[in-house]
Amino acid sequence: MHVIVNCAMSLDGRIEGKFSNDKDWKRVYELRAECDAVMVGINTILKDNSGLTSHGVGKNPLIVVVDSKCRIPSDARVFEGNVVVGVCEGVKTDAVWNKAKVIACGKKQVDLKVLVEELALMGVEKLMVEGGGMLIASMLDLGLVDQVNVAVAPVILGRGIKLVEDELKLPVNLKLKDILELDEIVVLEYVVLK
Ligand SMILES: NC(=O)c1ccc[n+]([C@@H]2O[C@H](COP(=O)([O-])OP(=O)(O)OC[C@H]3O[C@@H](n4cnc5c(N)ncnc54)[C@H](OP(=O)(O)O)[C@@H]3O)[C@@H](O)[C@H]2O)c1
Repeated sequence: MHVIVNCAMSLDGRIEGKFSNDKDWKRVYELRAECDAVMVGINTILKDNSGLTSHGVGKNPLIVVVDSKCRIPSDARVFEGNVVVGVCEGVKTDAVWNKAKVIACGKKQVDLKVLVEELALMGVEKLMVEGGGMLIASMLDLGLVDQVNVAVAPVILGRGIKLVEDELKLPVNLKLKDILELDEIVVLEYVVLK
């Protein structure tokens, strides 16, 4: 499976807020359409409640929500599409039984290695991880990420959730693959060196 982290951020790597312009959103919608699935952490759903669709530019991806305790609201916008909720073992999932496929793995947190393996068995070959910072940190720490795209907006915030919102065991080395200039937004695309 090819896993792409895609996130928009301030120059100082803060991801809370709106950073993309129309051209960057178009790029994001196209990338969602190219991917088989889009993964987010539960905090992102609780905060943004976005539908995570391709906005008509192509097929809508499967949405994967990483949610240990199954806190996702039953009226979350993602349920307008096909959803997988990754939860911890033994968690009550009645609230989503007719809305999503549930994959139970992990004790305190969702076991992302197992979740990714299960998604691969379901036919997911290209996975986009949109955030937030805690999910991105875990995916990087586990060596599950192949590519990192960051859209950098011309602002320094000095506060808020970061692109990587947890300590990593080891640095993640990257090789610059492409730079896109979308007016005031600069998109940096990196390959993860493994
Ligand atoms: N700028 C952008 O492109 C962009 C994109 C996406 C999100 N965001 C922003 O990011 C913010 C949310 O980020 P966040 O860092 O607070 O949270 P997050 O990554 O969205 O969600 C983290 C939560 O996922 C659950 N989780 C379960 N298993 C996990 C695992 N193995 N590793 C990591 N998390 C696991 C945990 O909650 P449980 O224990 O309850 O399961 C954890 O608190 C929002 O403000 C959102 O707007 C920005």
